[in-house]
Amino acid sequence: MLSGAQDRFYAAPGNPGIADHAECVDLDVSNHAVVIQFCRENDIGLVVVGPEAPLVDGLADSLNSVNVPVFGPSQAAAQLEGSKGFTKDLCERAGIPTAGYVRTRSLAEATEALDKFEAPYVLKADGLAAGKGVVIAETRAIAAEALTGMFSGQFGTAGEEVVIEEFMRGEEASFFALTDGTTIIPFGSAQDHKRVGEGDTGPNTGGMGAYSPAPVLTAELEREVMERIITPTVETLRGEGTPYSGVLFAGLMLTDEGPKLIEYNCRFGDPECQVLMTRLQSDLGETMLACASGALSGAHNAAFDEATALTVVMAANNYPGTPEKGGSIHLNEAESAGAKVFHAGTVRTEDGGLAVNGGRVLNVTASGVNVTAAKAAAYAAVEKIDFASGFYRSDIGWREVEREAGSAA
Ligand code: AMP
Ligand code: GLY
Repeated sequence: MLSGAQDRFYAAPGNPGIADHAECVDLDVSNHAVVIQFCRENDIGLVVVGPEAPLVDGLADSLNSVNVPVFGPSQAAAQLEGSKGFTKDLCERAGIPTAGYVRTRSLAEATEALDKFEAPYVLKADGLAAGKGVVIAETRAIAAEALTGMFSGQFGTAGEEVVIEEFMRGEEASFFALTDGTTIIPFGSAQDHKRVGEGDTGPNTGGMGAYSPAPVLTAELEREVMERIITPTVETLRGEGTPYSGVLFAGLMLTDEGPKLIEYNCRFGDPECQVLMTRLQSDLGETMLACASGALSGAHNAAFDEATALTVVMAANNYPGTPEKGGSIHLNEAESAGAKVFHAGTVRTEDGGLAVNGGRVLNVTASGVNVTAAKAAAYAAVEKIDFASGFYRSDIGWREVEREAGSAA
């Protein structure tokens, strides 16, 4: 929920979905002067920086320097997403549970470091690589080949350093928290489906579907995550003079030894955001403004609907490779039974229709009393949509659906 205190919303660049709620503006967000000028001309009271690249590029610092409130961390604090090595070192300093690791800066160093690990080998380009910088290599030969690719510029400057990690076993879940640098409020949990294919097979994607909450993250585990992972992260960054404000999205592995951090993102995930927002009942604008202005307090506790929200991503053919663009989409009556269709890579055609303009195109989202019910409602909406040049996974939520069937039996 977003309060009516704000009467005007702008989205840059936006898409035909958000155009129903905000004016879409074509701003070059890599040009900070242009963004500042826009904020001044339009009397902007809060800027929410969605993606990681402009945060790592210091957009929040530029806006803060001219007193425009920003929801999102400074360049220094955004290193939590911008550099895997930075985060691993921070975990070590703060005693945060995570996989053992070595940072390497050359192929020779990395190859030698492989001796310290066992298969499967986890290799990560240090910098931002649009979610493609992680390789899990089953054998040493595959690891050596992947390292050669990384150090020969496959990921550009992101691969100048490679972090090699111990492989963690367990189930993955995501946990969210909002902070102004001092006060922290938990902001729910979710589970994503990263692989493109049914049954979690095929290449990794940005996410093919998600649900919230994630029942595997019990209240007790959430407390443990807050105490052992989130709080020490926020306190360490503040203590070192680079306080973090905004949303912390912790990717977790639930291991036999307890939850361990896989990685941090400094944004709401996609499609995790869609399911979190579907459940949110308290005022997001007010809470984000409090984060931006250092005024978050216990009074801002986020309230979520107890129902489960589940979203199915409809993607363009060939995603996560180069997506087939231009195909037409008809939403028909998809939203008639209470579902919500969030747009991603869509564009308005000249005749007012909708066409494909990106890899992940629609997020068809619905709620239910549990994952099984939310899944049924979301797929009922998916089936109403005509999207001939796209595809979707039909098993979003499968782990939880199996568990729910087990506990009903
Ligand atoms: P990341 O971009 O760091 O989230 O990594 C992408 C995916 O790789 C994660 O969602 C996990 O599925 C997997 N992964 C990353 N690090 C590890 C690890 N140390 N052990 C096991 N799996 C991992
Ligand atoms: N869905 C994972 C992410 O946004 O990074």
